[in-house]
Amino acid sequence: MKDVSHHLVIVANRLPVDRVELADGSHTWRTSPGGLVTAIEPVMRHGDGVWIGWPGGVDVDVEPFTDNDMDLVPISMSAEDIEGFYEGFSNGTLWPIYHDLVAKPEFHREWWDSYVAVNQRFAEKAAEAADEGATVWVHDYQLQLVPQMLRTLRPDLRIGFYLHIPFPPAELFQQLPWRRQILEGLLGADLVGFQLPGAAQNFIRLVRQRVGHKTHRDLVYLPDGRTVRAAAFPISIDAAGLEELARSESVAARAAEIREALGNPRRVFLGIDRLDYTKGIYARLRAFGELLEEGHFDVEDAVFVQVAVPSREQVEQYRLLRDEIDRLVGRINGDHGRIGSPAISYLHSSYPREEMAALYRAADVMVVTPYRDGMNLVAKEYVACRYEGDGALVLSEFAGAAEELRQAWLVNPYDINGMKSALLEAYGADERERTRRMRAMRRQVTQHDVKAWAESFMTELADVGTHEKDVRPARRS
Ligand code: G6P
Repeated sequence: MKDVSHHLVIVANRLPVDRVELADGSHTWRTSPGGLVTAIEPVMRHGDGVWIGWPGGVDVDVEPFTDNDMDLVPISMSAEDIEGFYEGFSNGTLWPIYHDLVAKPEFHREWWDSYVAVNQRFAEKAAEAADEGATVWVHDYQLQLVPQMLRTLRPDLRIGFYLHIPFPPAELFQQLPWRRQILEGLLGADLVGFQLPGAAQNFIRLVRQRVGHKTHRDLVYLPDGRTVRAAAFPISIDAAGLEELARSESVAARAAEIREALGNPRRVFLGIDRLDYTKGIYARLRAFGELLEEGHFDVEDAVFVQVAVPSREQVEQYRLLRDEIDRLVGRINGDHGRIGSPAISYLHSSYPREEMAALYRAADVMVVTPYRDGMNLVAKEYVACRYEGDGALVLSEFAGAAEELRQAWLVNPYDINGMKSALLEAYGADERERTRRMRAMRRQVTQHDVKAWAESFMTELADVGTHEKDVRPARRS
């Protein structure tokens, strides 16, 4: 790495690469799972900042290094940190509360203590890495206390925070025994960014009610004279980069190979998700299975490819989900598959970008049906890859992406019959209809890419507190 202090510091729980142990005991680096890395990586490649995060694994103590032109500073985690901070408070308490209680959250005081301690370590590392007056951009629900901790250590910094997942309504957030500390942690930032305007409004309302600060529209006025802005910045992808990949000959050849291997059915349905209970994978496959059962099509007409990227495998609810999906896929394939032609090709694995692009190109109908999702970048990736303006997207109303991709076949993922109708409509839609919808969605995704997202956040961050309108309104007598 070139120098020790930086003008831009990214702080996220995970580094963009994840150290994995192979069967023979050796190690390799893989792209980390999830939308956060998909979005931040292209932003970092074009800048000269440093990224602080966990390299995956237990007690992995590696020196700062450079990967793909990015300067990375690893923070090691012990088995206790993983249990209390990562699997516990982050993914056993916050994740379900922030996703509409799709699963039941657990509240444990030891998990909270671990969350505080690990957040403090991230804040200290960021304080060491940042130049005088630098900008630090903290990401996601695992690190909500870092902004305030960092401000105490380094009041000279400009601090931004971005939440990649939904921010819940007050009624749910209030269940958290540590609700006030979390709000105060976030208020350490100058700018708090969310996916959707509704999330920013939830936050402002909670700050007023629970912390008692004055607020006006998207501004919070702190007693020390500081102003914090909370606003929506819908995240996106490197649309041009992905389209270029999708247009390459090797990806086209691989897409043809995939269709061939599937038995050249008339239509290929595709789902790509982390294996997470918020994603609605089970209900979606059930809907597809029922359509086969009722004879709307058979495996010569339509097959489903479901990629489930392994995730949080030590957490009980994730293990149960895996078993349930394994059983369902086995049953549907047993009932409807033929030799060499399963109804569902189920892949429990992660794949490189090229393979994903080939899958997007091979798919006629992309099915994205989460019960709740901050944005869902898979939906945008599919649209970016359909440069010929064809293909159909079935999308949950409860994914942030639904606010932008209005021309998708929108569904309520809790309504199995509604999902079945949407799958059938997308399956049977004529070319004109598919093209009309896809073209409109492509305009949205290509015009609002991840570069525009990062620039608008950074511009706003540089601006907070410098406008007259940010100054506390005069008290009315
Ligand atoms: C979501 C979260 C990220 C997280 C990713 C993968 O996209 O917003 O913060 O990194 O899932 O989950 P994991 O637990 O493997 O980091």
